[in-house]
Amino acid sequence: MSISKSLAVKIKDCHYTCIDIYPNRNNWVNYQQFDGNTIPFGDKTYDIAIFSDVLHHDFSNIESLLTEARRVAKYIIIKDHFEYGFFSRKVLQIADFIGNYGYGVSIPNRYLSQDYYKDLIDKLGLLELNRTWPINLYPNSLIAGVIIKKEFQFISILSTENHT
Ligand SMILES: C[S@@+](CC[C@H](N)C(=O)[O-])C[C@H]1O[C@@H](n2cnc3c(N)ncnc32)[C@H](O)[C@@H]1O
Repeated sequence: MSISKSLAVKIKDCHYTCIDIYPNRNNWVNYQQFDGNTIPFGDKTYDIAIFSDVLHHDFSNIESLLTEARRVAKYIIIKDHFEYGFFSRKVLQIADFIGNYGYGVSIPNRYLSQDYYKDLIDKLGLLELNRTWPINLYPNSLIAGVIIKKEFQFISILSTENHT
């Protein structure tokens, strides 16, 4: 919600709705709870759909969420994690536990690999226009920066035009 809010400040005539499976107990504005599968908007309602650290939380719905985002938006921006084996998976699980446990968000048992991500977007006919990777999310923390490696973080921009 903070990301959308700051984009709306920077971009003229920017309208946004944030969606999540989390109930709207706090009367958040521009927020809608949904079923985690079917995005509750019409075809090409939005220019951009953003998944910020969401997809790795629900592997069972990754394909339907991206298929739905392809229907609803012209572009998809994904911020997520890449894992490379046991160490990266454990580090990311610990970071997810610290960041999310208090909110009742489930901790994933795996993360996307680069091969999985490539196969996924190819399968769904999405075209990757740009990838920012690696990303140093913790430039001011030596410890976090060493443990949570910059190779674990990526941002990918996808076009939803038909590329199959
Ligand atoms: C790490 S939090 C990220 C929250 C927010 N997007 C952000 O960037 O701060 C992961 C979020 O994914 C949500 N989530 C889990 N499964 C989901 C699904 N199938 N569809 C949409 N959101 C889901 C959780 O409820 C949680 O809010």
